[in-house]
Amino acid sequence: MARGAIRTVDTLAAEAVPGVVRVFTPDTMPRLPSVPEQPDWDIMYGSSFVPMADRTIHYAGQPIGMVLAETLEAARHAATLIHYEFAAEEPVVGLDVTTDLAGEPGHEPEQIWLGFVAGYLPGAVKRGSGAAALDHAAVRLEGRWRLSTNHHNPMELVASTASWESADRLTLYETSQHVANHRNGLAKLLGLPRENVRVVASYVGGGFGCKGPVWPHSWLAALAAKAAGRPVRLVLSRAQMYTAVGYREEQWIDLRIGATQEGKLLGATVTKLSATPAWEDWVEPSWYPFTFMYDLPALETRCRLLRANVMAPTFMRAPGEAPGMLVQECAMNELAAELGVDPIELRLRNHADVYPIDGSQWSSKRLKECYRVGAERFGWASRSPTPRSMREGDLLIGMGMASASHTVYRQPASARVTITTTGIAHVAASATDIGTGTATFLRQITADELGLPLDAVQALIGDTGLPEAPMQAGASLTSSLGSAALAAARTLRGRVLALATGTEGSPLYGHNENDLALDDGRILAGGNPTGQTVSGVLRRAGLTELSSDGRFDPGGMGQVRSGDPVRDRREAPRGMHSFGAIFAEVAVDPELGLIRVRRLTGVYACGRILNPKLAESQLIGGITWGMSQALFEVTHMDARFGRFTNTNLSEYMVPVNLDVPVIDVTFLDDPDPYINPLGVKGVGEIGITGVAAAIADAVWHATGKRLRTLPILPDALLDGDEISSTRC
Ligand code: MOS
Repeated sequence: MARGAIRTVDTLAAEAVPGVVRVFTPDTMPRLPSVPEQPDWDIMYGSSFVPMADRTIHYAGQPIGMVLAETLEAARHAATLIHYEFAAEEPVVGLDVTTDLAGEPGHEPEQIWLGFVAGYLPGAVKRGSGAAALDHAAVRLEGRWRLSTNHHNPMELVASTASWESADRLTLYETSQHVANHRNGLAKLLGLPRENVRVVASYVGGGFGCKGPVWPHSWLAALAAKAAGRPVRLVLSRAQMYTAVGYREEQWIDLRIGATQEGKLLGATVTKLSATPAWEDWVEPSWYPFTFMYDLPALETRCRLLRANVMAPTFMRAPGEAPGMLVQECAMNELAAELGVDPIELRLRNHADVYPIDGSQWSSKRLKECYRVGAERFGWASRSPTPRSMREGDLLIGMGMASASHTVYRQPASARVTITTTGIAHVAASATDIGTGTATFLRQITADELGLPLDAVQALIGDTGLPEAPMQAGASLTSSLGSAALAAARTLRGRVLALATGTEGSPLYGHNENDLALDDGRILAGGNPTGQTVSGVLRRAGLTELSSDGRFDPGGMGQVRSGDPVRDRREAPRGMHSFGAIFAEVAVDPELGLIRVRRLTGVYACGRILNPKLAESQLIGGITWGMSQALFEVTHMDARFGRFTNTNLSEYMVPVNLDVPVIDVTFLDDPDPYINPLGVKGVGEIGITGVAAAIADAVWHATGKRLRTLPILPDALLDGDEISSTRC
């Protein structure tokens, strides 16, 4: 049930199961000394909701009991024996057609809190008059895009292991994208000093947004462990993850966009409709890409939120951009078809030469080259523009393209680099590795700066005892933490050379530091061996090791988004985005409605690429997810009960290897002189953007059908669920 209250609860049978240690219900669960409050500029919570605190039911899947047992089997069995009686009420559920919440007015929040990485966003953007600009448009397009609910499915489940070392000292092993956030959150909620909470998470099996914020399972594990007087491990099941750690909300996006006969965009209005829990507003800023992507002189956006009996949605890969770029890029492709202009040409005519939000320069932008190189690599010129004009036997062949982009986020970060007389260096930071290669890039940057082979550098990560790293999120960790590591290694290098040249009796005493170089633990002068080593310099100074701290501080938490007065851009007076172009080829079997993606080609300008192998892997993963957004992923809800029904990997469809074609990824050389000392923009988020639009356009090109409901499933191709571009 999704709404109502617990009337009675009986735990006797559950408590009698052999191996059961404790049974908690909302009546017996220990209370938090302090509850999550939003906004919080230090702590990112998944939601401010505190389950197990009273008997009210707000959504299906809400935790209402917890069994501690010696074995997982005993705990699961006992949980089935807790007997509840409920007073059920009629739930209000999502955007499902059976309830048609779309007919309700909803409410329009003035600003939206997106956690400290992004801060506040205005609930509505107004640039000129989008609606009035449309009146003068020679060509107008109007449509509703329906995007399904999508759920996080990292391979690794979400889990907490809480161990109290003493009455006021907690160690939490957590599947975390940000151990400092979990430390700060748990300390606040449990009423402990931060230094009394240690959070450990070195390697995490995928996060994608769901493991960044603090969610209830972590504090429930800690409260239970304290009450039981022994460590507790709480692993969410795959099904529980569907209602415990957020999701990408179902959303309907209504767009009106207009252009001149020459294809110059004049204005747009964007209205997003989605559901939010009863207790707080969450809305993914899906209109955001319209603010920066093209030279769009007039824009009006709104978001309408409907209170429903649902758990809070949250960040999911490229939040804002993933749905927003889909709609915008689909619209560009539909306009191109209306105007009879090549889709790339239409984008060039609307290229934003300056940052549209404030007219400032871009830090760097090589989008036009992405189009050009991508078109060449893909063979775009071989596409005949008419839909249904390309065939292979019985198959309809379609080609589509889209732009890709993601905001560059910059977060404060610290790292420490230590060099020892054994010739080994360490680079340390609290960051986790969620599959992005954190340890690798830290070692690489350190090794490069200290002139050491990679094998001689070790990384210490994933523990709040280490220098504080930011959240592994927003495609910002490599750039932000990498810059801190670079600063630390650079300072350390300088200190080693200063010891070598500034210590009387040193063979290098009085040498100019600028002539010296470090190479494999040795010191070179003017490129020649000096016979001196770094270890020797340390020993002569009576040291066994030498450490330096480095910090990257961009001067604000993240990049300010449109109209945000809270965080300034003093040190980033430029638009900062990564860009790309993605091309897709599909083959459609018109008899069966089956779509096969045959080729995906992406060309990206993401700043300097530190490690091509890691970066390419990020893009392949992101592009695969974009394909999944287009053709596979949908969480179904049973509208009678407000319950998600396919909460497992057998029915929540994701592409398998056989579905995924070879993905051709190219990076343009694009070091950015403004963003950070490394010139890195980040690659973790951009891959998913634009892909679904390129595929939807390829499906149109193959079949002649404009499909605006995602995912695009075979029945849509068989049903004639066809939307032709509307020329008003
Ligand atoms: Mo990513 S959605 O910032 O983890």
